[in-house]
Amino acid sequence: TSVYVFNGPNLNLLGVRRPEVYGTATLSDVETLCREEAEALGLELVFGQSNHEGQLIDWIQEAGAEVKAGRAIGAVLNPGAYTHTSVALHDAIEGVELPVIEVHISNVHRREPFRHHSYVSPVASGIVMGFGVYGYVLAIRGLHGEARQV
Ligand code: DQA
Repeated sequence: TSVYVFNGPNLNLLGVRRPEVYGTATLSDVETLCREEAEALGLELVFGQSNHEGQLIDWIQEAGAEVKAGRAIGAVLNPGAYTHTSVALHDAIEGVELPVIEVHISNVHRREPFRHHSYVSPVASGIVMGFGVYGYVLAIRGLHGEARQV
């Protein structure tokens, strides 16, 4: 059984971009954290990052099909700035009924007002924010617990 972790635009710059906000861990460090957590839970990790909205939508549709087929439990998604702009991401998640945990490294509610609205939250199963990159670990645990109903 798989678990997906998808990252949106500019998250390839993690560790370099605004370390005072996002910390010094790199995306590769995040992948390692996620892989360890998934393996501890007996899940196979599929990890991706894209700066392209359409690529993220293709991945969400594919992940939705895998969940339907019983081969995956859902996706952890940090949509980056597309959180605040993308009706298309909202529609994709809703359309394929993919269980999604929305993750933000920072607490977006203590930042600029334009980060306060999320198009993803209304179609997310859960939301984790403000815990730094550890939020990815919490989100994988949450998704797994939800799937097992414990
Ligand atoms: C982010 C918050 C977004 O507002 C921002 O555009 C990002 C990262 C976070 O993880 O805190 O790219 O999703």
